[in-house]
Amino acid sequence: MQSEAGPGGLHAAIIMDGNGRWATQRGLPRLAGHHRGVEAIRRTAEACPDLGIGTLTLYAFSADNWQRPDDEVGGLMRLLRSYLRNETQRLARTGTRLSVVGRRDRLPRGIPEAIASAEEATASGTRLHLRICVDYSARDAIIAAAQRLQGGDATRESFGALVAGQMHGSPVDVDLVIRTGGEQRLSDFLLWEAAYAELHFTDRMWPDFGADDLAAAVAEFARRDRRFGGLKTAAVPAAA
Ligand code: FPP
Repeated sequence: MQSEAGPGGLHAAIIMDGNGRWATQRGLPRLAGHHRGVEAIRRTAEACPDLGIGTLTLYAFSADNWQRPDDEVGGLMRLLRSYLRNETQRLARTGTRLSVVGRRDRLPRGIPEAIASAEEATASGTRLHLRICVDYSARDAIIAAAQRLQGGDATRESFGALVAGQMHGSPVDVDLVIRTGGEQRLSDFLLWEAAYAELHFTDRMWPDFGADDLAAAVAEFARRDRRFGGLKTAAVPAAA
């Protein structure tokens, strides 16, 4: 799988965890953590081009997050609405193309239209492809793709495109998955696309995450030995 029209460079994907704990530790309502999380999104996205990241995928709301209390879900949806309204110009100015990945049919009224208009307004951005996952489930995407499969001739490429298409996404392999907040799990995020991703876990809570943390993750990634199931080039014996 390859990036379709996005800029070259690394594809980093982040599970933005720890907003609630960040707020609770400060005696604030959980939503205050989500609000501060939006500032971390801005800082992190703007640091990407200089770190060689061409695509950044962020997990903002999973399909399972609908189970949270109504006030938290409502607050997150309001935050999404205001993000689309307030950030689009800035994204366009910084050469950032925005895509929202996930189901759209369960989002509150007006949001699907706001997504389409933000995507259109930023479509020519070439410095960074910012993908925000909302009402996203990797398992549901894989099930939906399997249900649409016709015949028995799927390849990794064709099936990957089908999986991504179920969530309005494009088939882009992930190089690096980062999870903040101290937990070490994938939580139904990009299960197909991250097959060979390197994983980086940090205790930093998402509202405190910034350019230095991203740079540290990229530096650690650069030291990893990625073999994709093969052998290190130097370890392959020369042909006789
Ligand atoms: C996980 O932390 C975070 C979320 C479920 C929401 C992430 C949302 C944002 C960063 C801001 C929203 C941005 C947009 C564009 C809508 P948690 O709440 O599970 O934290 P906890 O594990 O400490 O409770």
